[in-house]
Amino acid sequence: MTGSVTDLLAFIDASPTPYHAVEQCCGRLEEHGFSALAEADAWNLSPGGRHYVVRGQGSLLAFELGERPPVEAGFRMLGAHTDSPVLRLKPCADLTKQGYRQLAVEPYGSLLLHSWLDRDLSLAGRVFYDAGQSGMACALVDFRRALLRIPNLAIHLYNELRQEGLKLNPQRHMLPIVGLESAPELAELLAAELRNKGPKDCADLRAESICSYDLLTFDLQAASRWGANAEFIAAPRLDNLVSCHAGVSSLLAASQQGKVPFTRVLIFNDHEEVGSRSALGAQGTFLADGLRRVAGGSGAASAEALPRAIAQSWLISADMAHAVHPNYADRHEPGHRPVLGGGPVLKGNANLSYATDGEGVGFFTSLCRAAGIAPQHFVTRSDLGCGSTIGPITAAALGVRTLDVGSPMLSMHSCRETASAADVDSMIAVLTGYFQGVV
Ligand code: CO
Repeated sequence: MTGSVTDLLAFIDASPTPYHAVEQCCGRLEEHGFSALAEADAWNLSPGGRHYVVRGQGSLLAFELGERPPVEAGFRMLGAHTDSPVLRLKPCADLTKQGYRQLAVEPYGSLLLHSWLDRDLSLAGRVFYDAGQSGMACALVDFRRALLRIPNLAIHLYNELRQEGLKLNPQRHMLPIVGLESAPELAELLAAELRNKGPKDCADLRAESICSYDLLTFDLQAASRWGANAEFIAAPRLDNLVSCHAGVSSLLAASQQGKVPFTRVLIFNDHEEVGSRSALGAQGTFLADGLRRVAGGSGAASAEALPRAIAQSWLISADMAHAVHPNYADRHEPGHRPVLGGGPVLKGNANLSYATDGEGVGFFTSLCRAAGIAPQHFVTRSDLGCGSTIGPITAAALGVRTLDVGSPMLSMHSCRETASAADVDSMIAVLTGYFQGVV
């Protein structure tokens, strides 16, 4: 067990942004014989072939063709998302105020703003720069040092705090400080970072050559274990890097155990936290485009290859689930209170915020039993709203049988979330069985 937990924590620390998470996944897949395909190229696929394709650096589709073509044996897919709620830099981020240099940020997704205060924050993402004759180039950047901080207001200067509670205006109160006014501008910081740690063509990069960026703040504190028996893990981005890690780990484990008739698929989408409506998101065409090419066929056979394959396929949408919080147990529906360490959670919602139905519950319960595990169940209280996932969106787009599951966690969308160490292994065990076709 310790092996997969340690591996997960390292994976999270190395993945401060969706771009880095996808890069980490690709590295792991390549180590196990998966080769990169480009969407712009023709694909020559053969049975047993292992490949992956990336769209926009934030979304990943990986597949291992089965012994039989998808039209005969279908797909077994595992979906997750690569993004997490975060403070993203605005395009013209440089600000100076009251003798400080600050950066303009915009909340991405629904984040618990207060959890970002008084932390050692850093900056990571991708930078586009003018690479001379080769045109525009892109490099990943990860400052990996305490660069930014959003200080709390002292209680002595905050009379209203006691009556009204903490109120944070995202426009006024969440701007990180990056230094005193004399500190370098963002483009200077980026150019220096890329000169030191970037690709070779950045050796002489100047600030004027930085064209644009997608930059995210992140908490520098390393992912860790805690609790009397180290039974818990604390880390940023558990939602949903736990599921990405479980997906890659289980696909590779199953792949080593042997061949199966069906085609194994991982689909990791960016942009879930903001509704999935993008070229990279679950509402986009990335998965359908890829599956159509994997399903193959020619002439009339190609028109029916994908729908025939989909009709005998499954998608498990893996995203985190709300464990019961001891201080707020009444926020959960009685009888549906997942606990940390209790194993994978089946997520249901009568109004289809989750895609799970009775057939999906039965299928996943059988997979859990085969691994010696009893699944937990979550539905939200009838008087509370319900989160959603890529599950219902992908189910609607493809017409594929889908169920929503996840590992239980606390503090979802905090800068630093909590989950259980034991649940890391149990989810990987169940998903490995899924990819191995034990049920
Ligand atoms: Co999520």
